[in-house]
Amino acid sequence: MSIYPIILSQTTFTHKDNLTYPFEERGLQFGDGIYEVVRIYNGQYDLFEEHLNRLFRSAEAIQLELPFTKEQLAQLLMELLKKNDMTADGIIYLQATRGSAPRNHVFPKEASTNVYAYVRDLPRNETNQANGVCTITQPDERWRNCYIKSLNLLPNVLAKQAATEKGCYEAILHLDGEVTECASSNVYMIKSGKIYTYPATNRILKGCVRIRVHNYADEIGVPFIEESFSTEAIASADELFLSSTTSEILPITKVDDTVIANGRPGPITRQLQKRFEQQIEQYRSCTTEYTK
Ligand SMILES: Cc1ncc(COP(=O)(O)O)c(C=O)c1O
Repeated sequence: MSIYPIILSQTTFTHKDNLTYPFEERGLQFGDGIYEVVRIYNGQYDLFEEHLNRLFRSAEAIQLELPFTKEQLAQLLMELLKKNDMTADGIIYLQATRGSAPRNHVFPKEASTNVYAYVRDLPRNETNQANGVCTITQPDERWRNCYIKSLNLLPNVLAKQAATEKGCYEAILHLDGEVTECASSNVYMIKSGKIYTYPATNRILKGCVRIRVHNYADEIGVPFIEESFSTEAIASADELFLSSTTSEILPITKVDDTVIANGRPGPITRQLQKRFEQQIEQYRSCTTEYTK
């Protein structure tokens, strides 16, 4: 799963080996920046507009000037795939920081935004999709502006590490017993035919796949209720699942020592997964735009 050779650096393209930053770089020293991860299926971006919109929202929230308009960035990212002849399943990772400058908390006057984006392969994880995953619960120790996709991910890293050490896939975060989201995904509980998930406030990242889950729920007539649920309620949940760009819609079958329902992915989760499969099937049936 290596990185493709050509990367976007600022607004031009270069070989990945040419990217060097001084160690006084604000992303490195302060986490003073933002990022996005966009899924690629068969060499085509998924939920592209949603990700670009969120990137610009995050930039505005931290007063970061981006060196392109949304339209220009879209062009550049299409070009990035083309230059790499990318036709597989993968992701792009893009980050933008407040630039390189002598270390000082205050915004540097002389620095300009550093941007890079790279492409890598990432096959779909069909085993997890089929069987579901186990999770643990962890206190949500993050700041209050989680709607910003900021580079400051230390609490998320620690929570995910705790999950991994317990042999689990994800950590479900809670604020005094109220479930917010996971370390790197949104989380949903299904109870009596309704989907519950934390409202899209500043306490969570409003996932691009979450928007899709909401649309699918509307389509299949399952109420999508933006209300928090408690860690205690999980024990009597009918189904539980998470969503993210890289995990897609993923059933959760166990939380800490609690097995969810019969320990198998539930029927509503399956319906949502099926809709997701149908959506990405469209990428299989059409040729990558630049190879037409
Ligand atoms: C904290 C957090 N919540 C939710 C998500 C899901 O967002 P998306 O569906 O846009 O991938 C992510 C994805 O990285 C995340 O890091």
